Amino acid sequence: MAEVDLAALRKNVDVLQATVGPGVGVLAVVKADAYGHGALACARALERKVWGFAVSLVEEGVELRRGGIEAPIVVLGSFYGYSHRDVIAFRLTPVVSDEGDVEKFARAADEMSAGRVGLHLKVDTGMSRLGVRLERLDAMLQRIVATTAVELTGLCSHLASADADDAAPSEAQLATFAEAQARVRAAGLSPALTHVANSAATVRFGDARFDLVRPGLALYGYNASPSAAYTGLLPAMSLKSRIVALRDLAAGDHVSYGGMWKSDRAARIATVPIGYADGYTRRMTGKACALVGGRRCVVAGAITMDMCMVDVTDVAEAKLGDEVVLLGAQGGERIDADELAGWAGTISWEIFCGISKRVPRVYVGERW
Ligand SMILES: Cc1ncc(COP(=O)(O)O)c(C=O)c1O
Repeated sequence: MAEVDLAALRKNVDVLQATVGPGVGVLAVVKADAYGHGALACARALERKVWGFAVSLVEEGVELRRGGIEAPIVVLGSFYGYSHRDVIAFRLTPVVSDEGDVEKFARAADEMSAGRVGLHLKVDTGMSRLGVRLERLDAMLQRIVATTAVELTGLCSHLASADADDAAPSEAQLATFAEAQARVRAAGLSPALTHVANSAATVRFGDARFDLVRPGLALYGYNASPSAAYTGLLPAMSLKSRIVALRDLAAGDHVSYGGMWKSDRAARIATVPIGYADGYTRRMTGKACALVGGRRCVVAGAITMDMCMVDVTDVAEAKLGDEVVLLGAQGGERIDADELAGWAGTISWEIFCGISKRVPRVYVGERW
């Protein structure tokens, strides 16, 4: 199971809010099912503490609204296909990068007699993913000014390297953003909400905070890098399983597919029902450890689809049904997502997002 501590999430919002001060709102990034933590449960736990929520897809926003979330929901993804009417019907705030979407939202609003649609304009300041580039910005602004059914309520961008040691790329992006803001003002527009900062930029660049900050990773208790570190974040997710089988091996016996792991002593091997189909990626084979009896134990041999095997030889008391912690703390020991990411050759964001649907999410710390 993936145990998610909602009290830790709330504490992390406190850390974020203390970092930015009372004049800046937290636009909590709960896309990708709140990085695997469960978007609706996390949004419900945070709704009273944050300004609003950011998702990537319209469907993710609809899920939150259907679940009763009333706070503003900003759709970062910028791909609307045929869903302009859904955006309006579910009172989502679209981030727009494409001139065509200005027309499409205006038409949908007219057809639905919905009044003016508020939209946030994304500016590409150097990420080269979404957003209007400076050379197209004036044309886009004219289009917005000329379209009475839409209203520019926000301006945003995204930093590509806020967590890198070198601050220069972020400073260059912020300078480009300042130029974009000047052009927006020159066009006679004054969006009420400006937001640029992810977790790393929020803690690192005071002049990237504007009206709202847009953290994801920090909400879930992790730092993006040592050069963008908060004090006091609490990891919200633990990944836990149990020993379902135990066997005693002789020296020289092999474990798992391909016999990649060979015992060099008489060993006790525990079978644990979590594997790569659960997001416990096979790429960690040969590197991963798990906690049993408060001790670090090697994951022996290939991680399989549904199970992995753990060498518990040094945990004399290990028995069937004992808890195994793959991510999180047990006794005085801890395995964090950065460590898993190191074993897997990836980043902590991907570890969280990779925990698959079939792993039950269990919530603790629900009470205020
Ligand atoms: C546009 C945008 N804003 C904010 C975030 C949050 O980033 P982080 O999790 O590093 O805080 C992301 C994450 O991918 C993003 O794509």
